[in-house]
Amino acid sequence: MSKTSAKPTIFVTRRWPDAAEAALKQYFNPTFNDSDVPLSAAQIAEGFASHDALAPTVSDQITADIIAAGAAGSGRLIANFGVGVNHIDLDAAASAGLAVSNTPGVLTDATADLALTLMLMVSRRAGEGERELRAGEWHGWRPTHLMGRSLSGKTLGIIGMGRIGKAVAHRAALGFGMKIIFYNRSKVTDIADYEAKQIDDFDVLCAQSDFLSLHCAASADTFHILNEDRLQRMQNHAYVINTARGDVIDEAALVRALHSGNIGGAGLDVFQGEPDIHPDILTAPNTVLLPHLGSATVETRTAMGLKVVENARAFFAGERLIDPVV
Ligand code: DGY
Repeated sequence: MSKTSAKPTIFVTRRWPDAAEAALKQYFNPTFNDSDVPLSAAQIAEGFASHDALAPTVSDQITADIIAAGAAGSGRLIANFGVGVNHIDLDAAASAGLAVSNTPGVLTDATADLALTLMLMVSRRAGEGERELRAGEWHGWRPTHLMGRSLSGKTLGIIGMGRIGKAVAHRAALGFGMKIIFYNRSKVTDIADYEAKQIDDFDVLCAQSDFLSLHCAASADTFHILNEDRLQRMQNHAYVINTARGDVIDEAALVRALHSGNIGGAGLDVFQGEPDIHPDILTAPNTVLLPHLGSATVETRTAMGLKVVENARAFFAGERLIDPVV
């Protein structure tokens, strides 16, 4: 661990892009995890207790015990590097009187781009093709070789029409000529530049989609929202795309649906229990798997770090958080 001079102190659990680390150092006295190896719960608790703020990421479980340790020490703020906060015990933070912020907005485009990447990769069999070529098993062009399915004219069903869901719909409708249907708990009325039909029955959305892309936050309400029953309602050629959180899909049911041919394939960037991957997912046919890369561009990861800095600056200046969660 390396530590620089005075100002409010902040414990940062992982390395950040250079520009974001530099901005943090300008206003804070940060302790970075120089090794970038995941920290244990005890290390995070100790770090939070001895700093004014904690800047964790999705790969840290911020439990009630860590929160209690932070609050009993000098911890006052959890400034999350990321938009999703399902890894933080928000009730415990609220009860302990701690503030929590996140980084919405800046990762919308990168995550939407990655959802489209997965849609294209799985439907055009890009992963299979690359593996075949690298294995020296490509024996030349032929009319029936690795035929996939096109996006144009297909129906994209979106679950969760927030910022990222809308950005995916925008790209799919205007860039690829897809028809958009979506499921969202509240009524969505601000879509003007493309046609999109809100469907209140989730089961109907599953049955009508050629591509089903999940963009809802992980919560008790959305846990396994795509379950066995809904997977069975999907068409045999349909694809599941997940750039949200592993918890929103019943992975065991997804694996069964893939292996039995009940659905056409899946493009997954997030997993239950990641970075551990259910072994049957690795052998499932027509599946493209990425290691949680949704926001992984230099521009986006830098902007996420700068958002942490802005929120922490506002907080320690006695102002309202820019992106309050708690
Ligand atoms: C987030 O911000 O929640 C992402 O999953 C990390 O990119």
